[in-house]
Amino acid sequence: MSKDNFTVTPWDVSGDVNYNKLIKNFGLSKIDDKLLEKIKKQTGELHLFLKRGLFIAHRDLDVVLNSYAKGDSFFLYTGRGPSGNTHIGHLIPWILAKWLQDKYDLELYFQMTDDEKFLFKENLTLEEATGFAYENALDVIALGFDPKKTHIFTNTQYAKTLYPQALRVAKKLTFSTTKAVFGFTNETNTGQIFYTSMQTVPAFLPSVKAGRNIYCLIPHGIDQDPHFRVARDILPKLGYYKPASIQNIFFPGLAKGGKMSASDVNSAIFTTDSKKEVEKKINSAFTGGRETIEKQQKEGGNPDICNIYKYNHFLFEEDDERIEEMRHLCKKGQIRCKDCKKQLVQKINNFLQEHQKKRQLAKAKLSEFILTD
Ligand code: TRP
Repeated sequence: MSKDNFTVTPWDVSGDVNYNKLIKNFGLSKIDDKLLEKIKKQTGELHLFLKRGLFIAHRDLDVVLNSYAKGDSFFLYTGRGPSGNTHIGHLIPWILAKWLQDKYDLELYFQMTDDEKFLFKENLTLEEATGFAYENALDVIALGFDPKKTHIFTNTQYAKTLYPQALRVAKKLTFSTTKAVFGFTNETNTGQIFYTSMQTVPAFLPSVKAGRNIYCLIPHGIDQDPHFRVARDILPKLGYYKPASIQNIFFPGLAKGGKMSASDVNSAIFTTDSKKEVEKKINSAFTGGRETIEKQQKEGGNPDICNIYKYNHFLFEEDDERIEEMRHLCKKGQIRCKDCKKQLVQKINNFLQEHQKKRQLAKAKLSEFILTD
């Protein structure tokens, strides 16, 4: 992808991502109005993330929904690489998964890849990764998933179940394919080369358990697609359906351009941040404002490049009229960045206060969700 000014792999996202190009490079389908209509017909309403274009691409979502319409249900699969605390960007596919679970009455398999993070992060021990998995699981549970239908597991502690299935995948996956898809070299450690087989397992494990094929839908960040491209290639060879996916773009960070990234603490709002930390971070965030108040009043601001506006648009302002008004006032220069920031700090802190409460309560519920063997 050297002719593009950006890179997107499961491990490295950099540059100014052109999503149209990325969709083409990856061979994804866009989520179009027709598909949105289909979802709306089945669910009665569209989730904000679908309406506002946070989820933009998919593979075979139409296939899964058509089969659902004929009475054949599906299950959800998503996951998290536990290398640190959870930030707001991580929550995006999980929030959509919760909505889909409610609307379609679905089981969810949630994979915590402590193995992956140990293998890929230079300075992370396996114990630390497993520890973060349990911390992150609290954030998952806090979103309100149904304990009867939601199964969270770490790869190392559910290994007895996962490993035999991963072997079946690995036997069909050559080094040459992993090199082509992920850019691996002779210096890559062999755990990394094996890892995609582990991430493939939950896409067909429920079918193994049920002894019949069940469709799988994976809500995930677009950077994870290469793993599932491999999964889609291999699973039919083992007699299973290709997993379908619904993919979100990166949640904006606090600086100009770029995504919210856990490795850059100042780019991200963590679910454990205090009110003061949120205020400090939002106050120093990049906006679409002008250099001076006078200039802003005369020329107006630019909501399209403004992180504060984007946070409202994608997550914190559900009211369509209100978001239009914010956009209008900004462009007319009738609202100052300072005031937008103040409102957003309030909204984020309200959200986090609730989330942190539920996160605390989740500690007592962990055992209802966790699968081990
Ligand atoms: N590899 C993912 C990460 O680093 C974690 C993951 C495992 C995942 N299975 C998944 C993410 C399924 C989305 C969907 O974050």
